[in-house]
Amino acid sequence: MSAGRGLWITLEGGDGSGKTTQAGLLEEWLRAQGRTTLRTREPGGSEVGVLIRDIVLHHRGDIAPRAEALLYAADRAHHVATVVRPALERDEVVIQDRYLDSSVAYQGAGRVLDADEVRGLSLWAAEGALPDLTVLLDLDPATARRRLDSADKPFDRLEAEREEFHQRVRESFLALAAAEPERFLVLDAAQDPAVIAEAVQARVAALL
Ligand code: TYD
Repeated sequence: MSAGRGLWITLEGGDGSGKTTQAGLLEEWLRAQGRTTLRTREPGGSEVGVLIRDIVLHHRGDIAPRAEALLYAADRAHHVATVVRPALERDEVVIQDRYLDSSVAYQGAGRVLDADEVRGLSLWAAEGALPDLTVLLDLDPATARRRLDSADKPFDRLEAEREEFHQRVRESFLALAAAEPERFLVLDAAQDPAVIAEAVQARVAALL
């Protein structure tokens, strides 16, 4: 992102693809390199965002698709303005679980909203800010589902969607990566976590 001098890395992928594990390993490695890091996420990376996260993930009953897209965009607008940009200006490395590609993939995968409109909304919210690197952890939804089942956590609204929804989410992520190969690093999330971490480190090292 042009605003700051730091480095902004986002992790994307379906639920159960291992983003949190990789974010942790990347943070450890960056700290060992002497970099100051900030771990954050969407939705819920700010105080206002925590409130929005509770609505989008735990509200019982339907949320109109445009309202849902606007809630994620509102979370994003506040998060980028008050958390991400200031950290980049302090020269930190921001490691972020999910960003606008999740909105395009998930809100677009319901087939009700147009992917380009969702992306446009997010870009407006974030004043055009895009990460320096987006790591896509690609995994087939059946394997991801088995991982989530064994994690023994209750499903949120999106995790509970049917497998064909998650298949569309996966395809959408892959299409986004193909359209912006210079921003994306696509990795097979079925691999050993240490192997994935090494591939991420190699790419990040080139950006430091
Ligand atoms: P996540 O924080 O990865 O969930 P967990 O903490 O349970 O691992 O993501 C929460 C859900 O929000 C996930 O199912 C994807 C969804 N989501 C969207 O639908 N649109 C968005 O723009 C974002 C950021 C997330």
